[in-house]
This record gives sequence, C-alpha cells and structure tokens, in this order.
Amino acid sequence: MAIAAGVRKHMADSSWIRRMFELGIKLKRERGEENVFDLSLGNPVMEPPAEFFDALRAYVDAPPAGGHRYMPNAGYPETRAAVAGALAGDTGLPYEPQHVMMCVGAGGGINVVLHALCDPGDEVVVLAPFFAEYLFYAANHGAVPVVVGCGAGFTPDLAELGSKLTARTRVVLLNSPNNPSGAVYGAGFVAELAELLERRGAELGTEIYLLSDEPYRKIIFDGAAYPFPQAVYPRTVTVTSHSKDLALPGERIGYVALSPELPGGEELMDALVFCNRTLGFVNAPALMQHLVRGLQGVTVDVGDYQAKRDYLHGVLVDAGYDVFKPGGAFYMFPRSPVDDEMRLVSALQEHGVLVVPGRGFGMPGYFRISYCVDQRVLEGAAPGFQAAARALAAP
Ligand SMILES: Cc1ncc(COP(=O)(O)O)c(C=O)c1O
Repeated sequence: MAIAAGVRKHMADSSWIRRMFELGIKLKRERGEENVFDLSLGNPVMEPPAEFFDALRAYVDAPPAGGHRYMPNAGYPETRAAVAGALAGDTGLPYEPQHVMMCVGAGGGINVVLHALCDPGDEVVVLAPFFAEYLFYAANHGAVPVVVGCGAGFTPDLAELGSKLTARTRVVLLNSPNNPSGAVYGAGFVAELAELLERRGAELGTEIYLLSDEPYRKIIFDGAAYPFPQAVYPRTVTVTSHSKDLALPGERIGYVALSPELPGGEELMDALVFCNRTLGFVNAPALMQHLVRGLQGVTVDVGDYQAKRDYLHGVLVDAGYDVFKPGGAFYMFPRSPVDDEMRLVSALQEHGVLVVPGRGFGMPGYFRISYCVDQRVLEGAAPGFQAAARALAAP
C-alpha cells in the first residue's frame, strides 16, 4: 500500500504500543477481564467532576442561539477570558484573552505550536523520559527531535541540554508533572533552565521557546506548589488540556497560552490561530468551550490519585523495586530489576499485569505503570509485581 515512507517508519517505531493494546485484548479474552490488570493506558477511569455534569445540564436547559456554529478560530472570547483570568490568578502575570487560544487537546495544541515555530530541519529538544508522541509530533512539521537525558529524580540534565542547544534549536519541550516519571520539576530547576535558555539564546543570537506541556499541572501531591516556567522565562508557551484534570480526554478540549511577557507575542498568536485553522482543527469543540468556561477552578479528586500513588509505591518498594516516588500525574516509572525491561514486561504479563516498556519513553531499563485505574486493579496487580521481581531475581 502506498503509505508515505516517513509514516511507515514511525508506525513501525511505535508498533509496541499497538502490540501492548492487542495483547491486553487477547489476555482479557483468554483469562477473563477480572484477571487482567491493565496499567498500560493513561486513560483515567475516574468520571468527570459533578460540576461538569451540572454545567452540561444547565447548558442543555438553556442553549445559547448559534452555540454550535463556527466561531473565531482562537475560540469564544468569553472562554479565552475565563482561562486568562484563571492563569492570571495562578501566576500573577497579566494574562488577557488575547494571550489564549483554545485548542483540540494538548496534542492538538503542541502540533499547532510546533507548526507555527519550526521550519524543516529546526530542532526540538525533548527531555527523557518523554511522552512518546513528541517524536512524531516533531516529525509532523519536519522538525528534528534532539533527546537530552536526566539525572537523579528524573531531573533533566542541564549540562547536557546546554551542550545540545544549537543555532537550529527552536523549542525545548518541558513536561511537568511528567509522563512517564511523575516528577514535578522544582522551582530551582525551572529557574536554572530559564537562565540557561536566556544565556544560550543570547550567545547563539536565536529565540528559544519553552513549550511547557502541562496536562497534569493540577494533579500534584503533598500540597506542593507548581513552579510556573513563565514566571521566570518570558518566551514560554503553555499548552494544556482538560483531559486529565477534568477527566475529559475524549472531549478534546485544551488551550495554548502565551506568556504576556513573550516578545512578539501578538504576531505569534496570529500564527497559532492561522495554524489552528489550516492544520484543519479550525477551532476547539464548541460545546466543551461553553462548559469549561465555568470550570477553570474545578479539578478531579487529586486525593484519590495521591492515595493510589502511596499504595502502589508501597507495594513496589516492598517487592524490592527501585522506584522514584512521584510528585504528580498518575504514572510511576520504576527501574526494571533486569537491564532488558522487556523481560520484566513479559514476566508481568505472565501474571496478567500490563505495563509499558521504558524504551517507548526514551529510557530503556525502566517501565511505566499508569495508576489512573480502580483500586481493585492495583490490588489485583500487586501479587504479579511481587512474583515477577522474585522470578527475575532468581539466578
Ligand atoms: C505529557 C502529555 N502531553 C500531551 C498529552 C496529550 O493529551 P491530550 O488528550 O490533551 O491531547 C498527553 C496524554 O496522555 C500527555 O501525557
């Protein structure tokens, strides 16, 4: 079949995702749904908060005239204003509606930003471990992904980053709380990153944009505060969605926000709106824009995720895994007891436990557990984690 060579290659590179998915279906058929513990997907089992359904009912009771027509490509002014107001409150920066564009999920937003900023051959830095789709998103726009590793606590290696910033670097993609590690990068790190990007940008005579991908920003534990990169780096473009914080991944609603202090922000916003239109998104879903307008202060029950983090972390530590305790999101990224994490993934499968190999996130030797599942599934997986660790520890 005449599929473009690049797409064919990327499909082959990501075929493990499909294999995992198919394996899950096969195991469920063979063993029964209740004996398979699928911790491979970042698809929250949690329902959206009651406020979402209240807003939906109120909308249906009194729908505005023309509420489902085309609108300005950036989104409804009232929705942009609500987002800007919430961002101003959270960051202390003077966000206005013109700094916000509603988009089709964070995935759609990242593609719009990369399209607006990157010419073919420009470099996009991705910080390992990273959301696997970033590589494909960069390729969509002819950009070249440059991978930078991390140190303790999955904190990106700034020395390595400094050495990999070139005259072609257009974007550094930051994702905190991080998928897959659950790390929340601290204020000290964010300040050092900002200083590095300022300095190297000035030395190279270029503009380096920090694309902060934040779909998990509100899923943060232990009462910690989120260090906003735009507070220290003006060339910050925030992309987020309500896929995780309102548990609405199927509804495809998110936004892109430019720091009010971003030099040339007005022109960049015009470019984003143009790209949102011409990439074919046109605008973010109308109904969702009507609803999330009033939900900017609402979040799913973060305490539930924190309790699951604590439970799972305890299980893994007791079973002997080397595992970092996440500060946010709903993933854990333990080290595999053997270097080839595919052996661990297979051993877990024997016990009906599905996880994702770390190589998919740019870090072989680790594996990702997604714990946005029912507690029953986590408890069912616990014996499998213990048995797999024992089996691989045996000589
Ligand atoms: C780090 C990260 N960025 C972006 C996305 C895309 O999310 P959305 O559903 O908002 O497109 C995800 C989804 O899992 C993610 O984990």
